[in-house]
Amino acid sequence: MHILAIDQGTSGTKAVVTDETGRVLATAEEPLHPEYLDGGGVEQDPRELLGSVLTAGRRAAAEAGVPLAGVALANQGETVLAWDRRTGEPLGPAIVWQDRRAESVTAARSGSSARVAELTGLVLDPYFSAPKMRWLRDHRTTGGVVTTTDTWLVHQLCGAFVTDASTASRSLLLDLDAVSWNAELLDLFGLGGEELPEIVASDAVVGTTTAFSGELPVTGLIVDQQAALLAENCLDAGTAKCTYGTGAFLLAQLGDVAARSKTGLATSVAWRLRGETRYCVDGQVYTAASAVRWLCDLGLITGADQLDTVAAADPGGVLCVPALAGLAAPWWDASAAASLTGMTLSTGRGHLVRAVLDGIAAQVAALITVTGDDLGTPLTRLRADGGLTRSRVLMQAQADLAQLPVDVYPSPHATALGAAACARLALDPTVSIADVVGGWSPAATYEPVWSADRAAEHLGRWHTAARATLTKES
Ligand code: G3P
Repeated sequence: MHILAIDQGTSGTKAVVTDETGRVLATAEEPLHPEYLDGGGVEQDPRELLGSVLTAGRRAAAEAGVPLAGVALANQGETVLAWDRRTGEPLGPAIVWQDRRAESVTAARSGSSARVAELTGLVLDPYFSAPKMRWLRDHRTTGGVVTTTDTWLVHQLCGAFVTDASTASRSLLLDLDAVSWNAELLDLFGLGGEELPEIVASDAVVGTTTAFSGELPVTGLIVDQQAALLAENCLDAGTAKCTYGTGAFLLAQLGDVAARSKTGLATSVAWRLRGETRYCVDGQVYTAASAVRWLCDLGLITGADQLDTVAAADPGGVLCVPALAGLAAPWWDASAAASLTGMTLSTGRGHLVRAVLDGIAAQVAALITVTGDDLGTPLTRLRADGGLTRSRVLMQAQADLAQLPVDVYPSPHATALGAAACARLALDPTVSIADVVGGWSPAATYEPVWSADRAAEHLGRWHTAARATLTKES
């Protein structure tokens, strides 16, 4: 059974055709060009998003040249747009998850943060969808519907008006235990009058599309991070992965209990499959490949492939807190700004590049610690995927700073493979979740070479630098 799985991400869209063993027959990628605006705005052109899905999907389908059984779609999670339900036309740009302009929306509701956390498992922060939906209504348009991008893309493909449970759980509008829209939360954000999509499982077939090759069922709808968690076989409670993409996202499996975080992480639906809901906790580094792109924009490197050749063996005393789009868990300070400290006249570009990589690894290490605190047992290994796992310097820094082995997933397509696994469950009632995921051997394992004392000393200095970027008490 061949699945066309589309990973609609922040920096690009990737389409993969895969068979039931997870073998990849064809891939196609289309870059995207988010706009970074003054004041923390990040926008995308919905037409470019849709165009990239269609172009990448058609290219991969044509290259594979095999009959397809269905189309799966992983999405960015919290990116929203307004659109006309009758014509399907977008009513303006998409507001990307990295966009911080809805901070005013969350600040005005700060008195409700404990109640919001109790109901949703999330923190009242502009990262999530509902504050962006409110901001969009206040500042852009009152017309049409306002939804996450998955709902719009699926509507374009097959006419359905749906979102899956994992995406809904990133909204601040979902009762996490009941997995249903919550009227109290809708009222809180003034979104009570909105038409909301039906919440479906990740193995629901929501319609058919002729957009790619013949008439194909549309299914396998899931947030990209959760898709990677599934692909990396994080099925047992306590297993964790970090995807180093546009941002870096650490997710740990919780099982069937939506335990609220005690350490400032977010609790979400991992997926709803085979009639059962699984939950996860997650911590976020908003800028990973985004920080690397920023290094490129500054002219320090020409691309991510230069990271390891340019990065110095050590950062020469330079420390970076890569808060280029604010800080998420466990600080939750959308106004925090990135810092580079400790520079002297002898600081070169190699030190700066190295400091940014170390800064990403230090922030993930901080998330690994609080995840262990939350689970009540420290993480002992980390599974890793995403484009930046190609940087040996970053992966070694991760192992050193977190003081655990890092297993790099053997395929660069974890997210697409996770979405394809959901589609397979939808289309073949005889297979189990374990069957569609399967085991894997790491492409590489990075063992810590630093001593625990050296790691603790570095992280101590990094935490001091991180605290200095905060604009509010955390
Ligand atoms: O929460 C946003 C995240 O899911 C986006 O993923 O792959 O675009 O960094 P990515």
